[in-house]
Amino acid sequence: MDKFLIQGNGPLHGEVIASGAKNAALPILCAALLTDDTLAIRNLPQLWDVGTTRRLLTQMGVTVSSSGPGQVEINARSITTCIAPYELVKTMRASILVLGPLLAKRGEAQVSLPGGCAIGARPVDLHLRGLEAMGAEIDVEGGFIKARAKRLKGARIVFDVVTVTGTENLLMAAALADGQTVLENAACEPEVVDLANCLIAMGAKIEGAGTSTIHVQGVENLHGASHSVIPDRIETGTFLIAGAITRGRVRVTQTDPRMLEAVLDKLRQAGAKLSTGADWIELDMLGRRPRAVDIHTTPHPGFPTDMQAQFMALDCVAEGVGTIRETIFENRFMHAQELMRLGAEINIEGNTAVVTGVERLSGAPVMATDLRASAALVLAALSADGETLVDRVYHIDRGYEHIEEKLRKLGGKIQRVTA
Ligand code: EPZ
Repeated sequence: MDKFLIQGNGPLHGEVIASGAKNAALPILCAALLTDDTLAIRNLPQLWDVGTTRRLLTQMGVTVSSSGPGQVEINARSITTCIAPYELVKTMRASILVLGPLLAKRGEAQVSLPGGCAIGARPVDLHLRGLEAMGAEIDVEGGFIKARAKRLKGARIVFDVVTVTGTENLLMAAALADGQTVLENAACEPEVVDLANCLIAMGAKIEGAGTSTIHVQGVENLHGASHSVIPDRIETGTFLIAGAITRGRVRVTQTDPRMLEAVLDKLRQAGAKLSTGADWIELDMLGRRPRAVDIHTTPHPGFPTDMQAQFMALDCVAEGVGTIRETIFENRFMHAQELMRLGAEINIEGNTAVVTGVERLSGAPVMATDLRASAALVLAALSADGETLVDRVYHIDRGYEHIEEKLRKLGGKIQRVTA
């Protein structure tokens, strides 16, 4: 199991290029199941989860070829099975994203029920309820979701809570359904918009993506297309915090500042000097200690839950007290215990963490528990005195492309240790 050995060091300086967005890439790869033509996808990040999705598709008989780094051509014409097996789904919950496309295109799907994970129970009841509203017959037995539908029918679906992959699953299902579908209380995340843009390029009739009400007019068939995945806003934010927490200056290029306004506002509140262009963001901490900020996670365009752990790390060394409220997931403070091993002062009550900043953290062995928690530990270690060994970094490999190379380019002292 790989570990990261990190030496706390001075300010990070330099420039990094944002990779393609993991949470856009995963649904877009699954969208290839909606057509018999070839879907060409570019700017794919080289991540564990992207590899898992490719394996999930190829074991169904889908042809996945690569014409170059970050590029794939997918053709699902010769699909042989509509089953997403437990051994793949248990490693990546987002496998549920094959359910809607398989039902819409093939009329059947068997997807292993995704279990929970470190950050919460992660139910998929809203996915299933939406598909049933569109006429699917769904049974859950033996740990499998077994779904059938002659042809899905358009429906008006109101989500009880905002669900990103729920919105994406039903958007893909509605694209080929008979008639009009309206998704109310839909997720507005940029990754949902990117999926919608890819579906529209394939011939789907979608209006309102990026708002809480999406209208879809089903069509008989979708054709192939070529689509480039948007930049990863969470990776972008993570690298900006790497600059802030070490009191340095970091520029992230090939990104889009409009996707993370709420994060940029919080970095300004923390005392960072930010400048932006069409596809770049530069953060300069001017060598100063950050000020503590309060965080309250909400669906987009509010503050993203996927940046909560990283901001907790920043608050740990900030001046003052920061209050962090996590409203999306019920157990997304696993990183707090590990940060306290580095000397952080954090009090947790329910879904609220109160962080009292200390001048410096001190290196120690810590363990990653989930993707964004591991990023928070790396950030804290970069600013701590001494050496930190972060264990179980396979979590970080799921969502950050070449993170140690990118951090070393900024002057970070980080080495991967393969046990
Ligand atoms: C997506 O997960 C992201 N993953 C997550 O990113 C992200 O944290 C999350 O959205 C919230 O932004 C991908 O896009 C692959 P949800 P998702 O459905 O879709 C409840 C990362 O670090 N809910 O929006 O699984 C659920 O319990 C990952 O990159 C139901 O109750 O999240 C949660 O409280 C972590 N029933 C809330 O909705 C359902 O059927 C939001 O979850 C579905 C969800």
